[in-house]
Amino acid sequence: MTEVDAICLRPWAEGDLGLLRAQNTAEMQRHLGGPVPEDELLDRHRRYTELSAAGNGCMYVVLLGPDSVVAGSVGYWEKEWGGRTVYEAGWQVLPEFQGRGVASRAAAAVARIAAADGDLKALHAFPPVVNEASIAVCRKAGFELAGECDFEYPKGTWIRCEDWWTPLG
Ligand SMILES: CC(C)(COP(=O)(O)OP(=O)(O)OC[C@H]1O[C@@H](n2cnc3c(N)ncnc32)[C@H](O)[C@@H]1OP(=O)(O)O)[C@@H](O)C(=O)NCCC(=O)NCCS
Repeated sequence: MTEVDAICLRPWAEGDLGLLRAQNTAEMQRHLGGPVPEDELLDRHRRYTELSAAGNGCMYVVLLGPDSVVAGSVGYWEKEWGGRTVYEAGWQVLPEFQGRGVASRAAAAVARIAAADGDLKALHAFPPVVNEASIAVCRKAGFELAGECDFEYPKGTWIRCEDWWTPLG
C-alpha cells in the first residue's frame, strides 16, 4: 500500500459493526466524548445502517488501496443549524492509516456526494478547536471557516468548535 493508494466509499452495511468497535478507543474518541458501551455502539450501528437506507444522508466505510482495506468511516446527515437545515459531515480514520490524506480525500468525496445526491445547500463540519488534525482535514477538503461556536456532542456536553462549511451546488 502506498500514499497514493486510491480511496473508495461504500455505504454502511450490516457487517460493519466491527469497524465501530475498532474505532471505539480512548485515542480515537478523544474529541468525540470517549468510548461508549456495547449497547450504544449497537444503537450507532443501527442509526448508520438506517441513515444510509433513508436517503437523508449516508454513512460510508472508507476503503483504501487495491485490496479495499477498511481504513475508516465518513458520512453526512441532516442537522438543524442557525435556523436552517444543513448537512453535517464527520470522519474517522484508524490510526494505522492516518497521515496519508485518507480523511481529507474522504471529506472532499462526501461533499461531492452530498452535492450530487442531497437536497440541501450547505455541508458543515464542527471540529473541536483543539482537534488540529480534523481542522486540517476541513481545510484540505476545501471547506471554509465560518467562525467558532459552542457545539453539543455528545448530548449534554458542550464543546468549543470551529464551524467549517462548503456550499453544495
Ligand atoms: C482527524 C482524522 C480523521 C484525520 O485523519 P487522517 O487520514 O490522518 O487525515 P489526513 O491524512 O487527511 O491529514 C489531514 C491533515 O491533518 C494533519 N494532521 C494529521 N494529524 C495531525 C495532528 N495530530 N495534529 C495536527 N495536524 C495533523 C495532516 O498533517 C494533514 O495536513 P497536511 O497534509 O497539511 O500535513 C484522524 O486523526 C482521526 O480519525 N482522529 C480521531 C477521530 C476524530 O477526531 N475525528 C474527527 C472528529 S471532529
